[in-house]
Amino acid sequence: MASRNRRAAFLGVGRYAPEKVLTNFDLEKIVDTTDEWIIERTGVRERHIAGEDQAASDLATPAALNALEMAGVPPEDLDLIIVGTVTPDHFFPSTACIVQDRIGAKNAGALDTSVGCSAFIYGCNIASQFIENGRFERILVIGVEILSKIMDFTDRNTCVLFGDGAGAAVLGPARGDGGILATHMKADGSLGYLLKMPGGGSRQPPTHESLEQRLHYIKMAGREVFKHAVRSMVEAGQDVLDQAGYRGQDVDLLIPHQANWRIMSVVADRLRIPHEKVFVNLDKYGNTSAASIPIALSEALEQGRLGPGDLVLNVAFGAGFTWAANLVRWE
Ligand code: ACO
Repeated sequence: MASRNRRAAFLGVGRYAPEKVLTNFDLEKIVDTTDEWIIERTGVRERHIAGEDQAASDLATPAALNALEMAGVPPEDLDLIIVGTVTPDHFFPSTACIVQDRIGAKNAGALDTSVGCSAFIYGCNIASQFIENGRFERILVIGVEILSKIMDFTDRNTCVLFGDGAGAAVLGPARGDGGILATHMKADGSLGYLLKMPGGGSRQPPTHESLEQRLHYIKMAGREVFKHAVRSMVEAGQDVLDQAGYRGQDVDLLIPHQANWRIMSVVADRLRIPHEKVFVNLDKYGNTSAASIPIALSEALEQGRLGPGDLVLNVAFGAGFTWAANLVRWE
């Protein structure tokens, strides 16, 4: 039986992005926008776009294999797979089950979560509980999105923001003093209408009318989302710092959900974390929702921005609304 103060740690991280790249200049040819406007208002320069024949599991599988390889964990050792996505292959079976089969994780349970951009952190925080209490030893958490398939390329307010990709992490018991030190998860469903895909579910099943009204695409009240994203990410980040007895100045790397550079910079300022400690790859990926944090973690490791002993603050905000954070002493 595991001791009560066992912690969960990241054993391996991986990512995958589809080959095709869509630049702001490409978007200029599709909607009434400019590269200059997009960079100034968001920080995005280009984003990856999945092929017509690619579904979420096609991106999630290589990201998962990448994370398993880094962790040195064979798929059959996995106890649980949690996939965060709002663009699953199908309503059912879950994308997690498809990935479970494709990687050969024959001893694992598998489930999808629909938490918008907070899904990877929610997944890690849930996984950390199973590891802390000794129930499970190895959990795969994936964030994956093919947002291009629900982006309305006639709506310049939204189609310039998002992109496709997948990131994954394998969690297991910490070997030393590190691991996930504190977690935060909150939601406010009363604001869900500000960022939603109205069509396709049981409220509005697909009909000719719903397709004509373009209800199967992302609808967003950008300014309102912006305001709540800043407030909630600061609340989540401050809470995990307080729980663990740290201040913003102690953080070595802030990995915020890559939605918009203006949101990230205000969040960093309010948490008193200098901008050079903020990881940014939004310029290359756009907002990949659930995939943004694990893709960033993977790149931060590869670039040597993150290493053993570092204090990392992951914080996200997403559709629901949901928001979440975790504070990690990297092992
Ligand atoms: N190109 C050119 N002009 C544009 C574009 C575009 N792509 N999009 C909007 N505009 C115009 C607007 O029509 C408006 O024109 P008007 O003044 O003539 O009406 C003007 O630019 C300003 O529009 P605002 O909406 O006020 O622009 P803002 O500075 O708020 O930026 C943005 C818009 C980028 C969407 C911002 O509000 C934002 O980032 N919000 C948060 C979005 C977000 O992060 N969502 C996801 C979070 S959760 C998740 O990831 C699922």
